[in-house]
Parts: sequence; C-alpha cells; structure tokens
Amino acid sequence: NTFDSKEVASKKAAARIAELIQDRDSKGENTILGLATGSSPLGVYAELIRLHKEEGLSFQNVITFNLDEYLPMDANSAHSYVYFMQENLFKHIDIKPENIHIPDGTLSQEQVDSFCQEYEQKIAAVGGIDIQLLGIGRTGHIGFNEPPSSLDSLTRQVILHEITRIDAAPGFGGIEHVPSSAITMGVGTIMKAKEVIMLAWGESKAAIVKEMIQGEISEQVPATFLQYHANTQVYLDKTAASAL
Ligand code: GLP
Repeated sequence: NTFDSKEVASKKAAARIAELIQDRDSKGENTILGLATGSSPLGVYAELIRLHKEEGLSFQNVITFNLDEYLPMDANSAHSYVYFMQENLFKHIDIKPENIHIPDGTLSQEQVDSFCQEYEQKIAAVGGIDIQLLGIGRTGHIGFNEPPSSLDSLTRQVILHEITRIDAAPGFGGIEHVPSSAITMGVGTIMKAKEVIMLAWGESKAAIVKEMIQGEISEQVPATFLQYHANTQVYLDKTAASAL
C-alpha cells in the first residue's frame, strides 16, 4: 500500500488498530498489540492518542509487547525504549501499566535467557499478538533481528550491526554511546503475529523496501521472511516505494 504521505499512511494504520480494539471490546475481549520504536511508528502513535482523546478510543483492554530494547539500558534513560514508549504513547492513553511489556535492558547476562523465555511465554499466555507494528532498519532488520537471523529465531540477545549503531549514533551523541547489544523478539515471534503492519517512509528506506518485497528470501535480510507471512500489510510513502 503506497500513500501520498506518511501522515496519511499513519492514520490508516492507526484506524486499522482502533478498529480491531473496538471490535474486541464489543466482544469483551483483549487486543494484543506488538509495538515498535524508532521514527516510523510516531505518526501512528500520535493518531492513536488523538483517537483516545477526541474519539474516546479506550486502551483498557489492550495488552502490549514491545519488540526490543537495548542491552544494557537503564529504563530511566532518555535513550531507553521504555522512555520512548512512555513519552510517545503510554502516558497519553488509558492503558493499564501491568499490561505493558518491554524487554528489560537492566538484566545481567545470567538473567537474559530466562527473561527471554518468559517473554515468549507471556505472549503465548494471552493468545499471541493480534497486530504487530514494524519498522525496518537499513540492514533489513525487523525488531533488532540483524542479519543473519533465522526464520525460527525467538526472543533473545543479539549483537547490533555497525550500520544500526551508526544510524542510532546521532540520538546517543556518538556511536561510542550506542549499546552494542539488545534484546529482541525473534523473527519467529514476529511471524506468529496474526497480522503485521510494516511502516517505511523516506528515500533512505527505498532500497531495503525493494529487497524486502522483491528480493530473495534470506537470513541475510531478515525482513524478507515477511514474504512468507500471509497477513502482512506494508504501508509506504511515495519515496519509500520509489524503487519498486
Ligand atoms: C531501530 C529499531 C527498529 C526500527 C529501526 C528503524 O533499529 N529497533 O525496530 O524498525 O530502528 O528505525 P526508524 O523507524 O527510526 O527508521
């Protein structure tokens, strides 16, 4: 799906999420959302906040699981994805704090594996993710599943790619401040989501968007695995779609 602008596309994506939440609400059921960070989902979050404030969209029955977090990362740091989610979405809506799940960047090495297994179990225990929002990194990563990541990979610790750290460097005031590792949901975790909404805006994403959609499926470009996902919608602006 190519839209005139990222604003229009973001509103569409938010409307789809709101529609599911309201449908589930009417049946007394929860909605399980997989959420992403980065600049790509900001317009979707802004629209969800607007729908909450102006149109009464409630998040009381919404449970969220974020894709990833840097490791190590203090939750109070302005660089943390915990902080990002609070600032850009959670503090503006009526979600219950106990329904928010974000990988924990404060874990010691000994704690990481069991945390990751529990994260998978928590997702499974609520019936799996209904809609997974995704952005894409220039390496072809989804979440922080850097190349090579296998189709069946689950939540785990990963080493960040140099390009990913370069892209994150401005926000951190230099690459030396960007953590070298992260905890991320796996490709397999993402593939289990019932519906995936991939967002990509701008010229800098055009080449990787082309590879994701038209390239050979490969662990070297983890986003290509979405070609196997039966219910993935790719929302693009004109510039991100320009190489297709
Ligand atoms: C980070 C995140 C990814 C995100 C990517 C792209 O690496 N871990 O989940 O998709 O950045 O970021 P942006 O949306 O800012 O281009």
